Order: sequence, then C-alpha cells, then structure tokens
Amino acid sequence: MKAGLLGIGKFVPPTIVTNADLEKRIDTSDEWIRTRTGIQERRIADETIDTSDMAYEAAKDALEAANIRPDQLGLILVATVTPDYTFPSVATMVQERLGATGAAAMDISAACAGFIYGIVTAKQFVEAGTYDYVLVIGVEKLSKIVNWEDRNTAVLFGDGAGAAVVGKVSEGRGILSFELGADGSGGKHLHRKEFIEMNGREVFKFAVRQMGETAVSVAEKAGLTKDDVDYLVPHQANIRIMEASRERLGLPTEKMSSTVHKYGNTSAASIPISLSDDLAEGRVKDDDIIVLVGFGGGLTWGGLCIKWGK
Ligand code: COA
Repeated sequence: MKAGLLGIGKFVPPTIVTNADLEKRIDTSDEWIRTRTGIQERRIADETIDTSDMAYEAAKDALEAANIRPDQLGLILVATVTPDYTFPSVATMVQERLGATGAAAMDISAACAGFIYGIVTAKQFVEAGTYDYVLVIGVEKLSKIVNWEDRNTAVLFGDGAGAAVVGKVSEGRGILSFELGADGSGGKHLHRKEFIEMNGREVFKFAVRQMGETAVSVAEKAGLTKDDVDYLVPHQANIRIMEASRERLGLPTEKMSSTVHKYGNTSAASIPISLSDDLAEGRVKDDDIIVLVGFGGGLTWGGLCIKWGK
C-alpha cells in the first residue's frame, strides 16, 4: 500500500494587505502587480502571530480533516525558511503545543519547494513501515524578511501555513510518483541576507522551464501521460509561471489551482493552502489524478503525482 495525503489543513492570518495599500507605501501600481503576477491581495501576520502559531493552527486543521490524534504521529516535518528561532525548530514547538509526545520533529529548508520535499520524506517513512502517520507543514512568515521598501519583492509575498497528514491509503490510491531536484549554481538568483533579494527575470525563466518539465515528468514516472492528469496544483508564485505549467499539461484553466490572487506567494505554504481551498470548494474528487509542483530558492524543485483519496 502506498502513502497518501489523509487530510489537509490551512491557516492564513486575518489581516489583508491589498495592492492599493502597497501603492501608498512604494512606487508601484495595482495594474502593474496584477498584470505581472496575478496578485490582488495577501495576508500579513501581525506581531502577535509568529511562524509556529500559524503552523500549529494549520496542523490542528489537518489532523481534524484526517481524523488522526496528535499521539498517533510518529514524525513532524516543518518546511520553512522563516522559523521563529534558528532553534528550537518550529517542528518541536508544534510538537509541544499539539501534545504529540511520541513524535520526532525537525524542520526542512528547501524554500518554496519545501512542502514537496516534506511530503516525499514522509512517504519514505510511511511506506517503509517506520511511522504510521507523519505530519507535514509548510509555513512562512515572509513579511519579517521582506524589505518593504523594495518594490521588486515587497509586492510578491504573503504569510500563511498549510499542512497534510501522510499515512497509508487504500489500494491504487496515494502518491504514485515524485521528483525532487536542486541546482545550487542558481542560488544567487534568490537568496536572503537580511532581506529577500531576487533576480526576478532569472527566477522566472528557471521556474517556467522547471515547473513544466517536472509536471510532465511526474505523470510519466507514474506510468501515465499528461492527458491522464485531472488537476494541477502549482506553487502559487506568479500566475504567468503557473499558466505556463498548466499549458504544458494541456489542462483547461478551471483544472488548475489558483489562489495567488488572494494570498500572494506564501512559499512553502502555498501548495497546501491552495489544495485546502480546492478540497473545501469541491474542485478535487476521490480518484482524480493530481499533480503538485513547486520550485524555489536554492534553487530547488519538486513534484508529486497523486491518485487522490484515502
Ligand atoms: N511595481 C512597478 N514596477 C516594478 C515593480 C513594482 N512592484 N517591480 C519591478 N518593477 C519595475 C522594475 O523596476 C523594472 O523597471 P525597469 O525596466 O525600468 O528597470 C521593471 O518593472 C521590471 O520589468 P520586468 O523585469 O519586465 O518585469 P517582469 O515581467 O519580469 O516581472 C516579476 C517581474 C518579478 C514579477 C517576474 O520576473 C517574476 O515573477 N519572477 C519570478 C519571481 C518569483 O516567482 N519569485 C519567487 C520564487 S519562489
């Protein structure tokens, strides 16, 4: 039996920052942001909400959706580049708050591809029989590492958390294939010293190529063709990058998860947040073939092909 996603959860902070709000702070326009990125607004966590708080809320939501208790978890993995502290890890903070005393816990650093890296790691432990249930969280408070004076990056990012419980699913369902990759030579194009610094054009070119290739590749590794794919959940970085991967799979617009307009780019959280909304709004059904694909700083990338359902 394969590992699959038993339940998905999310948390986004309540404060909405619109493009019009940003127009008041930096030299930008709603029109520029919408046409270049598809983003209309993003959620920003205030000083009372840190990364671990959002991670904990998304984790509770995912456990409830999966109908799994915290004491059943064998491992907690948190993908983030914006932890509360260098250590203790966010994963150990969540472990304590959940009361998941039997779970090991660690953070993963793979930037926006982190959630995919986390799910693939969880799958190995579940299919090896090491742990019955692994909790994977993608969470970012990017607002604390964004330079709010830099219009090249300030308009792109948002805060939030998404989570999934990974465990065994029924015959024929689950994670059919995956791909993980990295190209450290591109690390200079997207990095953080004090703030996020980015060569947008280089990241854009890489993302368009890699997202499309990975989406097709995971379908093929599952013994399928792109025509078998029912739904695409791309990392929500920029609508133009997302559209390029959708077109590569030959899917119509309504078969792609798209929440970038309301949450911006939430890095490791974007895929589970978007998938959570898809499930809540009935866009993903049992036995659908869905492809999840992400890319990020590192550079890193990853994809999953899943036959949906428990
Ligand atoms: N508002 C107004 N103008 C802006 C702006 C903003 N918020 N940000 C940048 N500009 C200006 C630049 O100063 C530049 O002006 P110049 O040509 O006079 O120097 C111009 O717009 C940039 O144009 P261009 O590079 O053609 O924009 P683009 O179509 O490449 O879009 C990005 C820029 C950042 C939206 C795009 O490159 C992108 O999405 N890259 C990938 C970023 C990403 O996904 N990062 C996260 C990875 S996980």
